[in-house]
Amino acid sequence: MANETSSVKNNNNMQAQAEDTGKQSGGSRDTAPLKKFFLDALKDMLWAEKALVTGLQKLQKVAASEELADAFETHELQTNKHISRLEKVFDMLGEKAEAKKCKAMEGLLKEADEIVDATPEYSATRDAAIIIAAQKVEHYEIASYGGLVAIAHTLGYERVAHLLEKTLMEEEDTDYMLTEVAECHINFEAVQEDAHEKVTA
Ligand SMILES: [Fe+2]
Ligand SMILES: [Fe+2]
Repeated sequence: MANETSSVKNNNNMQAQAEDTGKQSGGSRDTAPLKKFFLDALKDMLWAEKALVTGLQKLQKVAASEELADAFETHELQTNKHISRLEKVFDMLGEKAEAKKCKAMEGLLKEADEIVDATPEYSATRDAAIIIAAQKVEHYEIASYGGLVAIAHTLGYERVAHLLEKTLMEEEDTDYMLTEVAECHINFEAVQEDAHEKVTA
């Protein structure tokens, strides 16, 4: 048991040293393709987060519910923090912070625009629909950061993993909070709108 503990400690020290020098803890040949993938995925997320800032600003403007608009504003502020964290991660790895177009985020934001166009202005129905669009974005981010945290650990980048984990938790909290807003008020208000339409049709 004691040996196991000291070997874990040694491993952690090696990882810390590897991080300090910006190198992988394993043999560079073994982890080079994984490190390249990791960096590419970080660049993808940097683009995604930057695009999301604009996306969230648009959603704030079209949300009918003040609570929902506030939720989007709060997450816009967090998203700016996510960008700063990614820039810090690139810095820690001794790499340039470059953004690479994220086709998934581009598609998700396009879909959000289409949802806005297809729903009545300032209605609870639109709010219910844009919550789902925003949650699709959060789920994409959760899957991406979840995977990146795991790879950061594998590569021995513990401090990088810690930073990415903070972002991951904020994405998860946002997803949870959007579910609350939908289920506590907005979905109920949206169904009332439908009922009203049926009566007056
Ligand atoms: Fe984010
Ligand atoms: Fe997010």
